[in-house]
Amino acid sequence: MTQPTVFVTRQIPQPALERLRRHAAVEVWPDDEPPDRQTLIDQVAEVDGVLSMLTDPITADFFENTPRLKAISQMAVGFDNIAVDAATRKGIPVGHTPGILTETTADFAWALLMAAARRVVEAHNQVQRGVWQPWGPDVLTGYDVHGATLGIIGFGRIGQAMARRAQGFDMRVLYFDRDRYPLQEATLGVQYAPFDTLLTESDFVSLHVYLSPENRHMISRDQLKRMKQTAVLVNTARGAVVDNDALAEALLAGEIAAAGVDPEPIPVDHPLLGLPNAIVTPHIASASKNTRLHMAEMAVDNLIAGLEGRRMPNCANPEVYTACGPRMEIIN
Ligand code: DGY
Repeated sequence: MTQPTVFVTRQIPQPALERLRRHAAVEVWPDDEPPDRQTLIDQVAEVDGVLSMLTDPITADFFENTPRLKAISQMAVGFDNIAVDAATRKGIPVGHTPGILTETTADFAWALLMAAARRVVEAHNQVQRGVWQPWGPDVLTGYDVHGATLGIIGFGRIGQAMARRAQGFDMRVLYFDRDRYPLQEATLGVQYAPFDTLLTESDFVSLHVYLSPENRHMISRDQLKRMKQTAVLVNTARGAVVDNDALAEALLAGEIAAAGVDPEPIPVDHPLLGLPNAIVTPHIASASKNTRLHMAEMAVDNLIAGLEGRRMPNCANPEVYTACGPRMEIIN
C-alpha cells in the first residue's frame, strides 16, 4: 500500500513526528526559518497532507493547484494565515489545536502583565548594565496588581483562564466579548462591560481574540487614548490586533504606563523595541515544552484523521463535513 505523503513545515517534537512517520512518508523542512513561499507552493502542490505553522501563509491561490491535498493541519490554535474558505471550497479540512495551550498562554499573559506592572525587565536590564540604583522611595516603582481592575477582551478559553488567575489577586474583572457568559459571570464573579467602558475603567487590559479583518488594530490611537494613564496593555493574541505604531506613540507620550506584547516579528528598528516601558517577546506565549509537545501531538492526530478520510478531532472548517464532504479517497 502506498503511503500518503506529508510536508511538515518545521521541526516538531520527536515523539509526534515519529508517530506521523508510521502513517505517512514525511518530509520535514529542516531550517529554523520557515520555508519560502515558492517552496511552500511547490510542496503543497505535491503532497497529500501539510502540517503547517502560523508562519506559513497558505493563501487562496495555493488551492488552485492541489491535486492530491486531502488535509492541512496547523500546529496552532489560530489559523489566520490559512485561506480556510478556499480550503473549504475544495473540501479540504483544516485542523488546529484549540484548548491545549490555554493555560500555558494565560500563564504567559500573566508573566507579561506582572513584569510590565512591576518593571521587572527594566530593573533587570539596569542591573545587568551595572546600574544598581540604591533603594529609594521612588526607585523603579510600578503599579499594584492585587486589587486592581483587569479588563479582558475576548472571553474564550484563554480569557477565562486569565480571569481564574485574577481571583487570586483579588481583582475586579471586566470582560468584553461578542457573547455574554452568564455562567462565568456567576462562578468567576466577572462583569460584562461594553468595549469603551472596559478601556476607561481597567488598570490592566489583556487581549484574547482571534485575528480577523474586523479586529485588526482593534487597539489603536483612539482606544489607547481612552485608557488610564496608569494602565498596562497586554497582548498575547496575534500582534496585529494592536496597532504597534500607535502603541509606541502612546507609551512615549505617557498616555498609558506600560505594555507587554508578544507579537509575530516586528521590524528590528520598530520604536516599541527601544522603550523601557514596553516588554516585547517573539510570540512565545504557548512555548512551554509540554504544551508544544501536546500541540504537535494534536496536529498529528488531526492530520492522520484527515489523511485517512476520518473527521478531524479539531477542525477549523467543520462545514467541509457537511457542505461537500472531505476527500474520502482510499489511500492505497
Ligand atoms: C497559536 O496557537 O495560535 C499561538 O499563537 C501560537 O501558539
